Amino acid sequence: MSSQELVQISSPGKLFLLGEHFVVMGAPALLTTVDLRCNVSLSPRSDQQITIASGNLGSQEFSIQEILERRSIAQAQWDQFRESGNVGLLTEITKELLAYASISIGEALHYYGAKLNRGFGISIDSQIPVGAGLGSSAATSVSLAAAVALHLGHQLTLLEINDIAYEAEKRRHGNPSGADNSTVTFGGVIRFVREPKTIETLNLGIPENLSSNFVLIDTGKPNESTGEMVAKVAQLRRDNPSLVNAALTSQTMLIQELIDSVVPSGDEAGFVRVVKAGEQNLENIGVVSPSSIALIRAIEKTGGAAKICGAGGVRGSTGIVLAYHPDRKLVETVAKDKGLSFFSTTLGVEGLRREK
Ligand code: PMV
Repeated sequence: MSSQELVQISSPGKLFLLGEHFVVMGAPALLTTVDLRCNVSLSPRSDQQITIASGNLGSQEFSIQEILERRSIAQAQWDQFRESGNVGLLTEITKELLAYASISIGEALHYYGAKLNRGFGISIDSQIPVGAGLGSSAATSVSLAAAVALHLGHQLTLLEINDIAYEAEKRRHGNPSGADNSTVTFGGVIRFVREPKTIETLNLGIPENLSSNFVLIDTGKPNESTGEMVAKVAQLRRDNPSLVNAALTSQTMLIQELIDSVVPSGDEAGFVRVVKAGEQNLENIGVVSPSSIALIRAIEKTGGAAKICGAGGVRGSTGIVLAYHPDRKLVETVAKDKGLSFFSTTLGVEGLRREK
């Protein structure tokens, strides 16, 4: 029985403190949530339509059947991608503006084997910039899956919602690690390993001297998709395994250092050193564009450190750059000089939650 109540859900964005790309290969990653949220509300309808209205992407109406069909077509297209490794096929799957949202809803209906007599209206209102490495797609699919689950009368079981959202994430990103949706779902600071799936919520409060001095600099949307960047790194690993494996080993050690000593003790110099070394590993595997390298070197010159967050980019922008300096004003000056916008946000906020 589907509920006749209005359901409201919100999920945060996320960023990688360290470990992006290497996490796809099986190494651990350290992620945290950011205080920008994707709000979804679901209101029951008396007809059989499912409407989706997004503040950023416009609105569209589907029949229940259409939503289920779109989900299975997307799955078939993704199977083809898996067989061929052709990243171009992925772009087709979520080409239409609201395709990703409709697939996420379809995945939730499919998961619960729902037989609906009536539809519902969905509205999506997200504060998370798209394509910046801040987990906007993960937060959208997690919020949608949770809203549909509650509408269908199910409990909000985080592991289930996470699994549903991961299916939608695969349709968009191809071969994602699942770190994004897991962080967004569970919240806080997460140590994530892909296989065997480990979502460890760390009891790691980030001390004030670190947490109040992060700056997120927006370099703009990368030209390359996450799927393309992951495929590029996979190719590099086949061509030059020792280079990629050395960076992976280093990144894994840096993460452990952050967890064991640097973050708990609020060690500013240690934090700068670890972030710098982490960024170097990302540059070594070719995921940081020349313009972002120049920005990051300028920040390092002031005594701070910075790294790309997420898939990165080769030709131009790389999404959000996470910068840290014990005196964050110095980083802000660099960003201003380069004409880039920046902001600060609370890290480690609560994950998925029901608002109403
Ligand atoms: O750029 P984003 O937020 O999509 O993050 C991608 C992170 C990768 O490690 C490159 C891929 C993944 O699925 O974890």
